[in-house]
Amino acid sequence: MKKEDINKLLEEMTIQEKIGQLTQLSGEFFQTDNQEITGPIYSENKVNEEEVYTLGSVLGVYGVENIYKIQSDYLKKSRMKIPLLFMADVIHGARTIFPIPLGLATSFNPNLVQKTAEIAAKEATAAGLHVTFAPMVDLSRDPRWGRVMEGTGEDTFLNASFAASFVKGFQGNFDNEHLAACVKHFAAYGAVEAGREYNVVDLPENKLRELYLPAYKSAIDAGVALVMTSFNTINGVPATGNKWLLKKILRDEWSFEGVVITDYGALTEQVIWGTAKNSEEAAQKALLATVDIEMMTTAYLQTLKYLVKTDKKMLVLLDEAVRRVLELKNRLGLFEDPYRGALLEREKTQVFTEENKQVAYDAAVESIVLLKNDKGSLPLTKKDKVSFLGPLLDSTDLLGSWSWKGDVTDTESVLSELVEEECSPIDVADKLVIFVGEQSSQTGESKSYTNISLEQETVDLVCRYAGGEQEIILVVFAGRPLDLSAVSDKVDSILYAYFPGTMGARAIVDLLYGKQNPSAKLTMSLPRNVGQIPIYYNQYMTGRPTLTEDEEYVSRYQDCLKTPLYPFGHGLSYSEFEYFDSFVSTKENKVIVDISVKNISSIDGKTTVLIFMRDLVGSTARPLKELKAFEKIEINAGETRQLHFEIDREQLKFYNFSNDYIFEPGKFEVFISRSSEDIIDSKIIEI
Ligand code: BGC
Repeated sequence: MKKEDINKLLEEMTIQEKIGQLTQLSGEFFQTDNQEITGPIYSENKVNEEEVYTLGSVLGVYGVENIYKIQSDYLKKSRMKIPLLFMADVIHGARTIFPIPLGLATSFNPNLVQKTAEIAAKEATAAGLHVTFAPMVDLSRDPRWGRVMEGTGEDTFLNASFAASFVKGFQGNFDNEHLAACVKHFAAYGAVEAGREYNVVDLPENKLRELYLPAYKSAIDAGVALVMTSFNTINGVPATGNKWLLKKILRDEWSFEGVVITDYGALTEQVIWGTAKNSEEAAQKALLATVDIEMMTTAYLQTLKYLVKTDKKMLVLLDEAVRRVLELKNRLGLFEDPYRGALLEREKTQVFTEENKQVAYDAAVESIVLLKNDKGSLPLTKKDKVSFLGPLLDSTDLLGSWSWKGDVTDTESVLSELVEEECSPIDVADKLVIFVGEQSSQTGESKSYTNISLEQETVDLVCRYAGGEQEIILVVFAGRPLDLSAVSDKVDSILYAYFPGTMGARAIVDLLYGKQNPSAKLTMSLPRNVGQIPIYYNQYMTGRPTLTEDEEYVSRYQDCLKTPLYPFGHGLSYSEFEYFDSFVSTKENKVIVDISVKNISSIDGKTTVLIFMRDLVGSTARPLKELKAFEKIEINAGETRQLHFEIDREQLKFYNFSNDYIFEPGKFEVFISRSSEDIIDSKIIEI
């Protein structure tokens, strides 16, 4: 459809029809039961039949049959016959489930992440979906918050890089095998106070801009079609009615012209927050902030018609919002084909294919972190007498909590993948592999916990065998960084698996037996206990840093080290890598880093080199380290690879006390590193 035709369409629409385009309700309003409900159904959502046939989009309906049924009925009965948009959460796979995003991130492999999003898009569009509510790019430093599983961790630079990969993978060239992506939750949802879900966010503007906003901005620069508002307040104002955030930053500063949708019920939650006196005021604030679609409540539907009558400005805003929704529909080609080529045949043949499962397997292999391997107990060999045990040995709960179209019945457990291996009884084994962790239902939305330790029964189980002759290998399934301090010293090796998806069990067995070599690195620090939270690698110097752990009147805890149990970037390999010939220089406003890496072991492997920097003197205190570049490389046994990094001066800017984005010339320290704590070499440069 041409631009003029959209204008014509707008002219022909009644006010009621326009408002309908701005309302999204779930499938039950269209009489279907195959849908996902991700929040409460509000009894005040009374929508009459006439209104239903003006609505613009549908939440949580999946599958060609359902989507055809609703769309065809709608197109028959609605006056304007503007196709409905179908939106749902395809977060880390549709039918083929990849590791949870926090696991995908540990791969440090943006190309692989992009590939998983491409497959998710292909499967979801085959099932008729038009928009996915992903990527979630909320930076978080708080593992009590259950939603850390949906994000990519604690680092701004890394999150921004993955945000772009997800968007490119989902949206591709916008053809019928790709869908529109929706970056969320705008903004800073990961900073909810005390890790408690749906809570307030209070952040100085310079920290918000410097740490939290870049990942959303990166998604926007990659062309993301939609933005979802977050549930939280920002400095007192709920994101959904926050004109400063949505109009000033998102629309004016960042020139975002796409669709803004609220999170589930978030528009009328302004009334519950007490920042709007009723749903009319909530609707007014949201429209003034340029929110286009209201998800799962009907304040727009019930009140905008009165608001636009009395206020001409609201009429203009209404038209602008409707235009953005129509443009998205047009961009997706819905006016030409309201089903976007979705066919039952495609839905049957293009999903859960061997090819897709292979990528799920590769992603799982690259997502599982070897945290510890003190005695080299891993990889297991055919000569070892191994016993496998623990509460999660036979678990198929490996898909993670955003996998509603994944199917546990075709997910193998580790036990079932072990059929070909020889297992010894516990008492004669020389190595015990114990499978522990959390359930996926303990993670994700609304799953905040104050206790993130392993259950006492699990700790007791590990302690029963620890300290004896047998080598103990722990395999942990999790959706967040857990507090492992009760067991980490007692075991010899730890493999940490963020819910690894469809092919997770196979990947674990192959990693245990050395058919695959671990290469993942943590993107969120693992705390020693909840008292250390928030904990993150890019902390600040204090006026009283610790030199030794027994000093008084310095910045430390009396009862615990201040370092994490395992830091950002930590992750071992079965290979051994040697770093040499490092060279740091400056050239034309760039920092140049060169380094050679040799695989000095007899095992082919992959490793990631991390480049951190520290601004040594700034007008405000600067972090001790900030990730500025990384690269994952594959190096065969005995071979050497040269790496070259260029860090632009732009990357050294920060938001000062007055919130200006500036570069301050001076001295910087450059760290070439294996992890945030394992530094290979460092050099001070001046720029
Ligand atoms: C979640 C969003 C999700 C939406 C729609 C909300 O409860 O916060 O992340 O996209 O539901 O399912």
